[in-house]
Amino acid sequence: MNILDIIDKKEKNEKLTKKELQYVIDNYLNGTIKDYQMSAFLTEIDLLGLSDEETIDLTDIMLHSGKILNLGFDNIADKHSTGGVGDKTTIVLAPLVASLGVKIAKMSGRGLGHTGGTIDKLEAIKGFQTSMSLDKFKNQVNQIGIALVGSMGNLVPADKKIYALRDVTGTVDSVPLIASSIMSKKLASGASNIVIDLKVGSGALVNDLTDAKKLAHLMVKIGQKNNKKTACVLTNMDEPLGYAVGNSLEVIEAINTLKGNGPKDLTNLVIKLASLMTSASLNIAEKEAEEKVKENLYNGKAYQKMLEWVKAQGGDINSIQIADNKKIITSDKEGYINKIDALEIGKLARKLGAGRLNKDDQIDLTVGIVLKHKVGDYVEKDEPLAEIYYNSKQITNQELLSCYNITKEKPKTPKLIIDIIK
Ligand code: URA
Repeated sequence: MNILDIIDKKEKNEKLTKKELQYVIDNYLNGTIKDYQMSAFLTEIDLLGLSDEETIDLTDIMLHSGKILNLGFDNIADKHSTGGVGDKTTIVLAPLVASLGVKIAKMSGRGLGHTGGTIDKLEAIKGFQTSMSLDKFKNQVNQIGIALVGSMGNLVPADKKIYALRDVTGTVDSVPLIASSIMSKKLASGASNIVIDLKVGSGALVNDLTDAKKLAHLMVKIGQKNNKKTACVLTNMDEPLGYAVGNSLEVIEAINTLKGNGPKDLTNLVIKLASLMTSASLNIAEKEAEEKVKENLYNGKAYQKMLEWVKAQGGDINSIQIADNKKIITSDKEGYINKIDALEIGKLARKLGAGRLNKDDQIDLTVGIVLKHKVGDYVEKDEPLAEIYYNSKQITNQELLSCYNITKEKPKTPKLIIDIIK
């Protein structure tokens, strides 16, 4: 077996055996297969796809490329988001479901590109430790039902190496490569109930609804093949989620949501995801789960769990800082907001310093943008559209205004939850 024959076979769109896929992954990890060969192989997959069987095999091989966590608890629930702008969902969802007795033992990532990452956001809480030993992690889950860290052990090294290469070779947006990347990590982290928030739209990795549905079905199939309850929720990422974009600002919005005062879209999304996780973990009907979720969101218990969680990880909830400089950008015309381009808003927040272009870039946790409206709202000329919190880096009024399309006709209110596949 050799890599050139395998690339050749893929080029002819012939089905690859599990042994051949295993050969590629093993030899890429040990350095025998070079980056340029792997990049040719990934490009073929990006162009021609993989069958479901090949994707299931690839996921299994990646899953077994490193450690698989066994935390010793049954029924751990996990949620994964494919990443969006203003997506602070995990920070609300995790303590909310934990307050209902669902175990959360979660690993999250840092932001890259125009999307933020939960770990960066949580570091806006002074003292919050985003890494800890496996023993402390398990103890914390045992004692308070929730722990969240950046990474734990050598899980799925194949994904780390392949994802870094995909990032620089334009092969990130391949459906089978995304499915195997996400699902190998979810399966390795020891969760038995998995909910995936698959973002669709301008600010998301997947723009096209047909691709998104294909990806959702594939991930659910992989999860079920591995005996995990898996659901995939397709959600709109054409406009940012909630109003706040930027690390500290998003944590503040998440806290307000946990106090029952969150933006409608974020609150509804959290309730849906939390109901699916609670229903699967407590083995109750989704309707009953939803009632429990709403109760704890509005009776203070979810927020109490957040306080307990932050304290357990060394954080001071009262320490969140936002940048001292604030400017308000107003609308240059009246009319209905037809579009707020999530991708462009994400890029502007990054320009202020809230995100990274390269993995090692330092970010400014205190800066960002707070939008004053959602798509469908009517604005007067000179009415505030957004507040900009900044330090040394700035954006112009025109840059923000160009993210908006304001028209005379009232647009249809965008549907936040597009579909649920399980
Ligand atoms: N998120 C992942 O973890 N992997 C991908 O391939 C895409 C998004």
